[in-house]
Parts: sequence; C-alpha cells; structure tokens
Amino acid sequence: MELDEALARRRSIRKYKRTPIPEDAVLRVLNAAHAGPSGANASPWRYVVVASAEMKRAIRQASEKVDSTWDAGMPQWFQSWLASQGITSDKGFLEDAPYLLVVFSDQTLPYSVESTWVSIGYALLAATQEGLGTLTYTPGDPGFLWTLLNLPERFVPQAILPLGIADEAPDLSRRLKRRLARLETVD
Ligand SMILES: Cc1cc2nc3c(=O)[nH]c(=O)nc-3n(C[C@H](O)[C@H](O)[C@H](O)COP(=O)(O)O)c2cc1C
Repeated sequence: MELDEALARRRSIRKYKRTPIPEDAVLRVLNAAHAGPSGANASPWRYVVVASAEMKRAIRQASEKVDSTWDAGMPQWFQSWLASQGITSDKGFLEDAPYLLVVFSDQTLPYSVESTWVSIGYALLAATQEGLGTLTYTPGDPGFLWTLLNLPERFVPQAILPLGIADEAPDLSRRLKRRLARLETVD
C-alpha cells in the first residue's frame, strides 16, 4: 500500500474482532515505530506489547474506571463530542484486539514526548498498511500503567494502540478535513 492510500484509509477503530493476527505484522508495525526520527537521535520511546488476556482485561478495567471519572470532569462541549462519536466509557477494544502496544516516553531523554508521538504516527500508518485497525487511545489518567506493567516512573505513559482486525467500517469517503489545493507561502 502506498503512503497516500494509507493516509486516506487510516481511521480510528474502536471495535475489533477477536481473530488472531500474525506476529510478523506486529513486528513490522513496531519496526516502523522505531524507524522514526527523534530529537538528538535518542529514540526515547518504549513500546510494551501486551497479548495476555489477563493483562488486557486489567488494562481495560483500569481504563474504564479512570475514564468515567475523567470524562465527567471535562467541559460539556467535549462530552457532547464524545457522545457524537459514540465514544463511551466502555473500552471493550482493549480486550478484543489481540495486541495492545502500550507506548511510553523516557523523560530522562531529550524531546521525549515529541519524538514518541512522531513514532506513534509511524505506527498508525504502518498498522493501516498491514490492513490492521488501530486507535490512539489516551486514558484520562494513565498512571495505572506503571503499576500494571511494572515500569519505573521515568517512563511516562503516552498512549495505548490496540492492533487487530477491525469490526467496524468507518466511512472512508470522509477525507482529510482540510485539503490544500494550492501552496501559499509567507513573504
Ligand atoms: C493525541 C490523541 C489522543 C486521542 N485520544 C483518544 C482516546 O482517548 N479515545 C479515543 O477513542 N480516541 C482517541 N483519539 C482518536 C481521535 O478521536 C481521532 O483520531 C479523531 O477523532 C479523528 O478520527 P480518525 O482517527 O478516524 O481520523 C486520540 C487521537 C489523538 C491524536
């Protein structure tokens, strides 16, 4: 799949089949994430791969708990937007997707957050290229990930990316929100 097709096809997937996916595909997504540029070439990201049903359940339960409190404290416009997107505190995708990539940034390294998010972008596109669904999921208060995954606090949780076969078909006719027809430069 060419880059422009991956860009056009990538969508947030919040429903997954429980069908297993090949380990090779997951490896390619991880390798794409590791291929990104990083400030001072520090590669400050850490991807923890979760496949165990017990750990996925624990992550789901903790995420649902923190998100129900978090969402309730958000402004009304945000809550309305979540509802309009069908985003609820049910995070079933965290158990249904065969893999979760839990992404951390190492705060002892320079540009750790910025570089980690570049690598997340690479992972999202690579997953699309593999024909997999994925999502950028950011639990409201992700501190529970330190405890569950037993990581030192220098690794700051950034996102959870489920990887699996999509069980929903987003409307791909909805294109990039802003498409530039011509280049405008500043003088
Ligand atoms: C930084 C960031 C945080 C996000 N957090 C969440 C989240 O916690 N839950 C969720 O369902 N989607 C989350 N998303 C996905 C966005 O809602 C989604 O990308 C956006 O609505 C556009 O839809 P699309 O990805 O299908 O193009 C997040 C995306 C980004 C970039």
